[in-house]
Amino acid sequence: ARKIGVLTSGGDAPGMNAAVRAVVRYGLSKGCDVYAVYEGYQGLVDGGKCIRKMDWKSVRGWLSIGGTTIGTARCMPFKTREGRLQAAENLVKEGISSLIVCGGDGSLTGADVFRSEWGGLIDELKQNERITPEEADTYQHLTIVGLVGSIDNDMSSTDITIGAITSLHRICESVDSINTTALSHSRAFVIEVMGRHCGWLALMAGIATGADFVFIPERPPAGDDWETAMCEVAHRHREMGKRKTVIIVAEGAIDRSLNPIKAKHIKNILTDRLGLDTRVTTLGHTQRGGSPAAFDRILATTQGVEAVDAVLRSSPDTPSPLIGISSNKVTSGPLMKAVELTHEVAKAISEKNFARAMELRDPQFAE
Ligand code: F6P
Repeated sequence: ARKIGVLTSGGDAPGMNAAVRAVVRYGLSKGCDVYAVYEGYQGLVDGGKCIRKMDWKSVRGWLSIGGTTIGTARCMPFKTREGRLQAAENLVKEGISSLIVCGGDGSLTGADVFRSEWGGLIDELKQNERITPEEADTYQHLTIVGLVGSIDNDMSSTDITIGAITSLHRICESVDSINTTALSHSRAFVIEVMGRHCGWLALMAGIATGADFVFIPERPPAGDDWETAMCEVAHRHREMGKRKTVIIVAEGAIDRSLNPIKAKHIKNILTDRLGLDTRVTTLGHTQRGGSPAAFDRILATTQGVEAVDAVLRSSPDTPSPLIGISSNKVTSGPLMKAVELTHEVAKAISEKNFARAMELRDPQFAE
């Protein structure tokens, strides 16, 4: 039977468990042996108890559990060749030659590097007699399939990443809660949300909660004096009778000179210039926690199934696929192309080409 390994890597995201469950159960139904690699890439390097054979019951109840039960880590050893050599040896010893990785762009790039180095790693292991010549012959190729698990929704080539919708919902609930206390006291709140260098969570939360102003990395506020522009908007809304002011700031927000825009600074501006009683709330890791929304369970399940199918139809000459979703259809496209496009967003921002950054992220919000 074909042996497939599945692991989760990078920051956890709600729906990762549903993805692992789908890979395990659909893999079994296709006659494969499925192994969960615990603790992300660290588990690949450590081997032993971290690589566990899964059966139908191993993933019972996982659909509704947040986080990732098989664990995750931001792993340093795997970034070294020595670490990857050890990982390759562990996989060969377990007989695993296909890996489904659920993580963000960094984790998926790591997976593709591992695959492209694989032949050299196998040669070295054979030369050092860490694996037999027969094993080297049998395991000449590694198949990698990527699933995007990240609350940030920061991967190109896919409309939405596993976990982002749940996280957005959690943010909305938090902002709703803040709204009632803000209204009671006629206060202003500056709410910092996650997303790393991506403004999707902030922008969507702004739309979904009716925030007064949103700061995101891809489209910094126009003009040199964003402070005045923001105050004008907040003041106008107050003049219209609004009793609260809510500003949502992405953790990666910047101004047009690429300087970070921090919640504390926004608070000071609102306090000093408008005399608003202002508080800062950093939502933090509550945004990553809790039970996945139905959407993420479904997305992760359908994509997990597609990931197994992608393993089964893979060949050594085709590039590693990334499972995405586009116009409500599960897709499978070249992983590294998606990563390159994602990096292009960062490049556009660093070159202050914000229209391009927005275009790449989401054309419907481009100028
Ligand atoms: O990528 C997910 C994410 O939650 C980002 O939004 C955030 O910048 C980062 O991870 C936080 O990482 P950590 O959990 O290591 O603090």
